[in-house]
Amino acid sequence: MKLNLRVWLVAAVLCLPLAAFAEEEGGPALDKAPVNLQDVESLQRGAQTFTNYCLSCHGAALLRYNRLTDLGLTEDQIKKNLMFTTDKVGNPMRVAMQVNDAKVWLGAAPPDLSVEARARGADWLYTYLRSFYRDDSRPTGWNNLVFDKVGMPHVLWELQGIQEPVYKTEKVNGKDVQELEKLKLVKTGLLTRLDGDNVDSAEYDKRVGDLVNFMVYMSEPAQVHREQIGYAVLLFLIFILFPLVYLLKLDYWKDVEH
Ligand code: HEC
Repeated sequence: MKLNLRVWLVAAVLCLPLAAFAEEEGGPALDKAPVNLQDVESLQRGAQTFTNYCLSCHGAALLRYNRLTDLGLTEDQIKKNLMFTTDKVGNPMRVAMQVNDAKVWLGAAPPDLSVEARARGADWLYTYLRSFYRDDSRPTGWNNLVFDKVGMPHVLWELQGIQEPVYKTEKVNGKDVQELEKLKLVKTGLLTRLDGDNVDSAEYDKRVGDLVNFMVYMSEPAQVHREQIGYAVLLFLIFILFPLVYLLKLDYWKDVEH
C-alpha cells in the first residue's frame, strides 16, 4: 500500500511540468497545420512562397540555398526561382533588408526564421499567417489575432484579401466591454472567394500550409533523413541482427544439457 502511494507521488511530480505547460497556453485556439515532410512538392511550393514573400525582411541564415537540392530541386531551378538576395547557391539565406532600416520602418526587427517553427510550433505559425486583420490604430495598418500589435504587415494580403474584426459586447462587472469575436473577410484576394456569407479560403490555407511545412523542414532539414535512417536501423535490428544473434545462441547452447 505504502509503495503504491509512493508510485503515485512520483508520477504526480513527473507530470507537474506538463501542467505548467498547459497553463502557458491560452489565447485564441490554434488551427492544426497540415505538416507532412514526405510531401516534397508541398515543400517545394513552400520554399517558393518563403523566398518570394518572406526573405526580403527575414533571413534564414542556418539554411544554405543548395540544401534545397534535398527537396529534389536542381541548382539551376534554385537559381532561377528562389534566389533574389544573392548569387551563389552555396550561400546561406540572408535578408535583403538592413536590420536597422527595418527597426525604423516597422518598429521591430524581423527575427531570423531558421528555427522559428521549433520556437513557436507549426500550428501557431499556420494560425498566425491566416489571422492578420485591418487595424487603423497600428502604424502598418495591420494587427494579428495571435500576435497582438505585431510589427509585421500582412505581406500575403494580396493572396488572402482583407479581414476585419467583428466585435461582440460582453458585460464585465456590469460594464459593457467590446471583445473581438472573430475575423471576417471583407475583400477577397487571389486565393479566396466569397459566396454570399461563406468564405472559401481553401486555396489560401493550402498555400500557407505548404509554407509552414517548409518552415518545419527548414528548422531541421536533417529530420527527413533522420527518420529514414531510424527505420532502416530498426529493420536491420529486427531482420538481420536479431536472427544472427539467435542462431549464435542456438549454436552456443547446442551441446549443453537442458
Ligand atoms: C516587410 C517586412 C516583413 C516581411 C516581408 C515578412 N515579415 Fe515577418 N515580421 C516582420 C517584423 C518587423 C516582425 C517582428 C514583429 C514584432 O516583433 O512585432 C516579424 C515577425 C514575424 C514572425 C513572429 C516572430 C516571433 O516573434 O516569433 C513570424 C513567424 C514571421 N514574421 C513570419 C513571416 C513569414 C512566414 C513571412 C513571409 C510570408 C514574413 N514574416 C514576411 C517583418 C516582415
